[in-house]
Amino acid sequence: MNSSETYAKFAQYYDAYVGDFNGDLPLYTSLCHGRDPIVEIGCGTGRVLEPLLGAGHGVTGVDISADMLSIAERKLARYINDGKLTLLNLDFRCAALPGLYACALVTFYTFNYLLDDAEQSAFLNNIHTALADNGLLVLDLFYPRPMSRPETADRWEQTTFTVAGGEVLLRQKRRMMDDIEERIQVYIQGGNSEEIQTLRRYSDKQRMHTLLTKAGFTGVMFTDGYGTSHWHELSVDEATTSSFVVMAVKRRNSAHPLDAYESVGFSTHRNLHAHGRWTLSNAINGQFQVDLAVLGLWPAPG
Ligand SMILES: C[S@@+](CC[C@H](N)C(=O)[O-])C[C@H]1O[C@@H](n2cnc3c(N)ncnc32)[C@H](O)[C@@H]1O
Repeated sequence: MNSSETYAKFAQYYDAYVGDFNGDLPLYTSLCHGRDPIVEIGCGTGRVLEPLLGAGHGVTGVDISADMLSIAERKLARYINDGKLTLLNLDFRCAALPGLYACALVTFYTFNYLLDDAEQSAFLNNIHTALADNGLLVLDLFYPRPMSRPETADRWEQTTFTVAGGEVLLRQKRRMMDDIEERIQVYIQGGNSEEIQTLRRYSDKQRMHTLLTKAGFTGVMFTDGYGTSHWHELSVDEATTSSFVVMAVKRRNSAHPLDAYESVGFSTHRNLHAHGRWTLSNAINGQFQVDLAVLGLWPAPG
């Protein structure tokens, strides 16, 4: 089981390990545009919080690891002083949030760290409770490397990077145990070595659709990678072959089905519903269609 101790050990290496990865940030800043406040669950050292704060959002960062948060606190102190950033040290499987948010982000495979059905459901239910009407949830899910590149499974790989001016040698290997990926990392610095085991559960698109629907979300849409142009609904036979991002909406019961999309920045053309499809568009993604039958909304409600 992953514990806060896993993340405590990881915290000292996290920023150096992740390096300057920022390929996902434009997606989050575009989805959050016009929405406030925002919560990021599993915010770590603040990699995603920073550009959102820079764009002027009010943001809450939640993390189970006090060590991760203390790094975020140091880096983002000016936003805390300005009242734009709140950091909360809590385990989101068991604790609800003190506010209501317009958008919740769960980035960089954080959801995959939840291993049991029960904790995954509790996590999604807590997010549903923490969102305001028409609030948007965005989750980034991984496709394990032993599945995309089976030849790498259970093989040690090594790399070096720098932490606080000192060189760190990292040896790591991964393997699948059913749907759980085990990653063993050994960080070697000077004469010391630290071993970290991380377990992450693979969930494919079909499973995420089921879990989100069960938690009360609607308008579930997927995109592969971090491109913003291929949001689509899930088709019944769609396979998962890469990492993906899923977004879903908490919708008021009484609302029109398309309100959910409009509230997350899409403009809709309601007159096209005669064929059971709505045409949606937004500035980033261009135009695409949503099949109401797939959403369970066709024939259109009176
Ligand atoms: C891979 S890191 C992602 C950090 C950051 N979001 C980013 O993109 O750089 C996963 C983070 O999720 C946190 N985390 C894992 N389980 C959690 C839980 N149940 N509640 C709150 N935070 C959790 C970990 O402490 C860790 O900081």
